[in-house]
Amino acid sequence: MPKLKVVTFGCQANELDSARITGTLAKAGYTLTEDEAEADLVILNGCSIREKAEQKLYSRLGTLQALKAKNPRLQLGVAGCLAQREGEALPRRFPYLDLVVGNGEHIAEIPQLLTISRGRPSVATSEPIGLFPEDVEIQRDSRIRAWVGIMEGCDNFCAFCVVPFTRGRERSRHPDDILREVMHLREAGYKEITLLGQTVNSYGRKLDPPVSFAELLRRIDAAVGPGMRVRFTTSHPRDITPELAEAMARLDSVCEHIHLPVQAGSTRTLTRMERNYTRQEYLEKVSLLRSAVPELTITTDIIAGFPGETEADFAETLSLMEQVGFDACFAFKFSARRGTPAADLPDQVPEPDKSERLSRVFGLQARLSLERNRWLVGRTVEVMADHDLQKRDPRLGSGRTRQNKIVHFWGGEVQEGSLLTVQITEATSHHLKGLLIARL
Ligand code: SAH
Ligand code: SF4
Ligand code: F3S
Repeated sequence: MPKLKVVTFGCQANELDSARITGTLAKAGYTLTEDEAEADLVILNGCSIREKAEQKLYSRLGTLQALKAKNPRLQLGVAGCLAQREGEALPRRFPYLDLVVGNGEHIAEIPQLLTISRGRPSVATSEPIGLFPEDVEIQRDSRIRAWVGIMEGCDNFCAFCVVPFTRGRERSRHPDDILREVMHLREAGYKEITLLGQTVNSYGRKLDPPVSFAELLRRIDAAVGPGMRVRFTTSHPRDITPELAEAMARLDSVCEHIHLPVQAGSTRTLTRMERNYTRQEYLEKVSLLRSAVPELTITTDIIAGFPGETEADFAETLSLMEQVGFDACFAFKFSARRGTPAADLPDQVPEPDKSERLSRVFGLQARLSLERNRWLVGRTVEVMADHDLQKRDPRLGSGRTRQNKIVHFWGGEVQEGSLLTVQITEATSHHLKGLLIARL
């Protein structure tokens, strides 16, 4: 049987696509290998969100070219957002590629593309308009946690972002198909699902009849019953509604965590980013969510040094971080992406200023995370055991709280995916430590 290796370079959606690629090729007779040297096919699933992500893939391609020189049987492919964006330019630049395949329905075309590619690269990167087929089994790494795609694409066109160009227009999966997959995962022993989309809370608007994201959560909660955790990411601040806050408060399976990217704290920058909300509106959405779910943890994304961002604008990002008290934040230096409006804006912020702002965001967040985590010391929380988080010390168990905090605990062996009660004894800005009290 031919052997396959898939390397993931991007976000959770990219990781789910790697599992879809693996599933598609398993159906075509491939088995997985970790070792590139024994692979018949290596697919790099690329990301274009920032320049650095692209550079990483290009340098990996260099080493694979050397491998292919020694083993001419080896087929090489590039997939994902990078392939979707670069298309025909990739085989022109890297003539030794066999396959360039984009997102969405293109993934299912891989086996056919490979058979016609012998000797010349096969490229399938027209704008994706469909979804991954329902009848192909997705091959996930984890046996307890699963990403579940509920939609594809994005219609928002934030001024800095390539995603609407790489993933096409927003389209939602039918709720019955989502429920079928969720029940299938539950029967297979999965304990946690994370509903995935670029802006999950705008789910279902284009369906006929429309189905709100809150309604989807209600249907999933009713179907899975107790014992399964339901998460979702990413949410857009504009589409946070009282209906969603109420659903999060009421539904037992839905965890008390939201990832709500703010990007910047000044309304002037937010307007220039074309994010469609003001600082004040963001803060109002946070209040709405917190009044419905008092224990909610809120994490965010921040871009440092968006074109035209002044020191005064940036100070507003820091003050908003303090005001919300984020539990964690992913922060990035602005990266100019060809073809996006922000790349052509005047007043690009110099590199050293971007770096300096980024390190101030990290410094402040370390303090905020520590404050938020310390607040949990002395309390007893529900933890789901997760071996992927295991530290080097085998005597320490690991898992996550419903609020998505990582906990390392003393108290003996635990079964992966099991629910535990842990008393928190110590906090750092990255994780909590505690003692196992009970197995639920
Ligand atoms: N769909 C998600 C974001 C996907 S991209 C959402 O709307 O929230 C993940 C994060 O990458 C973004 O939230 C943003 O903070 C960052 N990002 C996107 N484009 C970027 C760019 N050109 N430069 C720097 N960071 C960027
Ligand atoms: Fe990109 Fe904005 Fe869409 Fe998120 S909402 S994927 S940041 S365009
Ligand atoms: Fe994800 Fe990168 Fe595409 S962040 S959506 S893989 S550009």
